[in-house]
This record gives sequence, structure tokens and C-alpha cells, in this order.
Amino acid sequence: MDLEKAARAVRENAYVPYSRFKVGAALRTPSGAVYVGCNVENVAYPEGTCAEAGAIAAMIAAGETEIAEAYVIADSAHPVPPCGGCRQKLAEFARSEAKVTLATVDGAELVTTVAELLPGAFDPGHMERA
Ligand code: THU
Repeated sequence: MDLEKAARAVRENAYVPYSRFKVGAALRTPSGAVYVGCNVENVAYPEGTCAEAGAIAAMIAAGETEIAEAYVIADSAHPVPPCGGCRQKLAEFARSEAKVTLATVDGAELVTTVAELLPGAFDPGHMERA
């Protein structure tokens, strides 16, 4: 399945009564499977979840744990970068060189990697003395 099409389609389902800002995310795993997520807001604002988090939850629920590639799409003038928390969440399941494409609904794309999004990432190696 095409990651761009999958992210664009799931974005339509975003629940965003507060921000009105719909985001769609699609992940491909090494098996070739594609998992999607959209942002889901809440009247208690901090309880809202990002599109990336939803896609990761779907991947984990399906029994997979590795993100080979990710695609995030929103309606903005420039491709919207994932929030800090989502960068850490992507890094948990992806190799540093994994491709991440940030896109706008108008067709602009910014291709980057997990390492570029989260330089100096906190990883399990930092807990070796614990
Ligand atoms: N949002 C995402 O879902 N992913 C991102 O990468 C950036 C921000 C959502 C969270 C919230 O529902 C809305 O966009 C505005 O911040």
C-alpha cells in the first residue's frame, strides 16, 4: 500500500474539534504492512493524542515493533514537523536512518530521517549503569 495515500486517507478521520488541525500518519514495517493513525483530541487538551502515536499503537497492537518508514501529512503551508514527544516515540521503534516524509495536502514533501528529527536521542545505552 502507498504510504502517502494511506496517511492522506486516515487524516480525514482525525477527531479535531479543538484545533481543527487534521494530521494523518502511516508507517510501513519490514514485513510490508502499513499501519495508520490520526490525531484524536479531547476536551481535556493534554489527553489528546497525535497521529504518529495512533499509528504506532496500531502497529504494536498488530504484533509488530519496527518502523521501516513513516509518512506524516497535514494541511499547512509547509510540511509540519512531528512534535518532540512523537520524535521520541518514532525513535523507540525505528533505526536512526529510517526515512520519515513530512507532507502537506498540497503535495509538498520534506524527506528526513529519525536521526535528523531527534539528534542526541536518549536510548537504552544511557541506562547501562542502572
Ligand atoms: N499533531 C499531530 O497529530 N502530529 C504532529 O506531528 C503535530 C501535531 C496534532 C496534535 C493536535 O491534535 C494538533 O495536531 C494540533 O497540535
